[in-house]
Amino acid sequence: MSEKLDQFKQEIEAFTSSSMEELERFRLKYLGKKGELTVLFDNIRNIPAEERKTFGQNVNILKNMVLSKVENLKSQIESKYTQQVDEMDISCPANSMEIGARHPISVVTKKIYDVFSKIGFTVAEGPEIEDDWHVFSALNFPPEHPARDMQDTFFVEKDPDVLLRTHTSSIQVRVMEASQPPIRVICPGRVFRNEIVTARSHCIFHQIEGLYIDKNVSFADMKQTLLYFAKEMFGNHINIRLRPSYFPFTEPSAEMDISCDICGGKGCNLCKYSGWVEILGCGMVDPNVLKNMNIDPNVYSGFAFGLGVERITQQLYKTKDIRLFFENDIRFLKQFEAI
Ligand code: DAH
Repeated sequence: MSEKLDQFKQEIEAFTSSSMEELERFRLKYLGKKGELTVLFDNIRNIPAEERKTFGQNVNILKNMVLSKVENLKSQIESKYTQQVDEMDISCPANSMEIGARHPISVVTKKIYDVFSKIGFTVAEGPEIEDDWHVFSALNFPPEHPARDMQDTFFVEKDPDVLLRTHTSSIQVRVMEASQPPIRVICPGRVFRNEIVTARSHCIFHQIEGLYIDKNVSFADMKQTLLYFAKEMFGNHINIRLRPSYFPFTEPSAEMDISCDICGGKGCNLCKYSGWVEILGCGMVDPNVLKNMNIDPNVYSGFAFGLGVERITQQLYKTKDIRLFFENDIRFLKQFEAI
């Protein structure tokens, strides 16, 4: 037994540390509930009576050694710490912090709000996880019609369909369900499509939907509103053109291009060397959609449009790769200031 005590003695004498945690582990190793010395004290009755006294004294010596070692090292560590604090120069400048900036997509979304709020549009939002009715059926996409394939959908559940919205047009349905004309809203949000991610397209992007329904709203009203928008957004020098197109929820439908502001219309890889960039789809709300929403198409008419926020941001900031907006690399984000 005394060999073991000798070994403890040597270990205790040799122990040193400059860390409080390590010191505490040392104390527990000997004096904790199951510590080496505690266990020896607990079993002292098993020692033959004649040896018991000396044994107890020896263990006690070791215990005191541990206690004084702990005391000494503790005060050493503490005084070293106070010394460090004393030597600290509190007048030194702190390390500079990286300050964040608003994401370019948020900056542009805000600018779009401002442009439309000047002509009386308010903002409405809706859920990203939607059902078939709000994304397709109410918008006059017939069941099994190939129009549904226009937008490759991420399904959360099939039958009944739960899906990630593929466009913000679902919000116009929610607005029409909740209110009667006159309606004048823009609806921003993230949309999702099962598409390959490239420099030009992404499986997540941002759209802003616009909806205007009242008596006597005409295609000319739509064109004028969108021209106003393009000039406010990009400057007076910008031209627009409307090309006939097809969407199930508008009739007639069009796509709107703006003259490419990156190359000034001469042709570059962003405008595919055409001098024009498509920024939105639009059209007169299909009477079937109004009927689905219990709005009388003989009394009311309206226009709708859906624009891609990334496209517009790319034009404004002259960035070429859409993926940069989703990587959140601070070196990219830092370059943008409010416009
Ligand atoms: N929802 C269409 C899309 O995602 C965009 C769009 C086109 C919205 C025409 C509209 C519209 O409101 O009238 O491609």
